[in-house]
Amino acid sequence: MRTSSDTADDIVAEGWGVDADTASPEVDVRTAHPAPAAGACASYPWRRLRATQQPSWSDQGVLRAVVQELGTRTPLVEPQECERLRSRLARVAQGEAFLLQAGDCAEDLSQVGPAAVRAKLSTMAQMAAILRAALGVEVVTVGRMAGQYAKPRTETREQRGELSLPAYRGDAVNGVEFHPATRAPDASRLLRAYEASAVTLAHMRQFAEEAGTGEVFSSHEALLLDYETALLRPGPAAGRRYASSASMIWIGHRTRELDGAHVEFARHVDNPIGVKVGPDATAEELLALARLVDPDRVPGRLTFIVRMGAAHVRRLLPPLVDAFATAGVGVGWVCDPMHGNTVRADGGRKTRRLADIIAEVHGFFEVHRSLGTWPGGLHLELTGEDVTECLGGSDEVRTEHLHQRYTTLCDPRLNRSQSVDLALALLASFG
Ligand code: PEP
Ligand code: CO
Repeated sequence: MRTSSDTADDIVAEGWGVDADTASPEVDVRTAHPAPAAGACASYPWRRLRATQQPSWSDQGVLRAVVQELGTRTPLVEPQECERLRSRLARVAQGEAFLLQAGDCAEDLSQVGPAAVRAKLSTMAQMAAILRAALGVEVVTVGRMAGQYAKPRTETREQRGELSLPAYRGDAVNGVEFHPATRAPDASRLLRAYEASAVTLAHMRQFAEEAGTGEVFSSHEALLLDYETALLRPGPAAGRRYASSASMIWIGHRTRELDGAHVEFARHVDNPIGVKVGPDATAEELLALARLVDPDRVPGRLTFIVRMGAAHVRRLLPPLVDAFATAGVGVGWVCDPMHGNTVRADGGRKTRRLADIIAEVHGFFEVHRSLGTWPGGLHLELTGEDVTECLGGSDEVRTEHLHQRYTTLCDPRLNRSQSVDLALALLASFG
């Protein structure tokens, strides 16, 4: 376990990130850099492994100072909150509860006021009430909030006209503005992300108290391993340690490598773990992943967040769910109907059709119904605001409306009325 005598040097894997200006994002630290001190590897074994999608920080000195500082900060989330969520997710896996996990694709460091947080949470509360009526079980609400500041990218660079700059990787890394200074990965943003997460959590707790629920759960993709490692904290039980950055963390579609650093990190923390599952996943791979991340088969430990696309889910999901049912390995199955249904509208904006999103959710439910397994939840990108980013809905957004209020930093989100439409579509099918 990390102690105050550990230095930031133990945590920071020197240059394990990519050089976004010169190379592919996939530098193998085992060969590209000298081995770190043996002690560091014992505490942080994921440092030995290849970590994809890490930024090429412009100043390693700043990174070290920030990691050192984060190591002294209060945990954002206590171990008991992680354990409470794990017990809720155990009910999800067992077919006794439904997960609603939602929030921005990428949170905005400049939007930490209470209004945006409350708008999201009240949208989710409204959806939760409808889903509860539709499905007849308790709904567990988890924010994709208070830490969702880092984005994996397919393209490491963005070209506009003559100018090529590092891709936007989330507000914890760089700014979205297309300017050389803003796009340079700046590790001091990690501290701002921590602070914005703390403020967001405070608003979330306030909202929950007023709503009389008392329970607040946060989640994000555990992408930036320097940040996540700096926020590791011991649990009350011997040998336990938690990512104190969020109640639940997930591994993204692009970092789901069995022998990669992200999976290794997840193995060594006791939080509930989500894993995104794309159309390329095989049953064999996912069973191997479950053996690695959840060797003791702890109920609620592992949730698969399936993002196949409306056109594929009916064909690709059954063998995966069936393999787990046959092997008797209990996990939660949750549908992310966003990331497999992204299209480019005329004019080039990324968008998603609500009809495709609903179609994937229906496909997901049908697969589970036919196998006699439980469709455990939804993972959504939404906002409580009246944005025009996704197409369709009862208050219809059409292509020509997209430019009006398109404010996402990354992927297109459902607005409030589209979010409620989605919940109502489930009520119409299953209520
Ligand atoms: C996301 O959730 O915003 C994301 C990048 O998803 P995925 O890893 O499934 O592509
Ligand atoms: Co997204």
